Amino acid sequence: MNPRILPLVPVGAAFIAMLAVSAGAAPPTSSRQTPSGQWASPQVAWEKTCARCHTTGVGPELRARALPPEYITSVVRNGLLAMPAFPHTAIDDASLEGVARFVSTSKLPKPAAKR
Ligand code: HEC
Repeated sequence: MNPRILPLVPVGAAFIAMLAVSAGAAPPTSSRQTPSGQWASPQVAWEKTCARCHTTGVGPELRARALPPEYITSVVRNGLLAMPAFPHTAIDDASLEGVARFVSTSKLPKPAAKR
């Protein structure tokens, strides 16, 4: 190693240690997720991440269509035309699998009773 940069080595090590400490200080949790990063249930994950488009007419209706879970997972991770892709930071693999199964086996909600 070049002897002229040797005095800088401890500075670099301290900087890296500082980065490691600050990264550990802020766990990436949000109030909508459980501390493990998982949603409380597949239904909650669906309601918080998908329903705002897929039950409002922004995106197509997905319920009661028996869409294959693999197809749902693939569309979410890769996006599809007007639908944005969702990275792991938005929904983790286990939660996405749960959502895909939930959507695949879901039924349409009963229409509100007429008054
Ligand atoms: C920002 C609005 C938005 C959100 C949030 C969103 N989607 Fe979509 N999604 C769309 C739109 C718009 C399309 C239609 C894409 C197209 O054909 O242009 C779509 C299409 C899809 C399709 C394909 C439907 C078909 O008929 O083949 C699937 C599956 C899907 N979304 C699943 C999901 C899931 C699961 C989530 C939650 C993790 C989600 N989407 C969240 C807007 C959204």
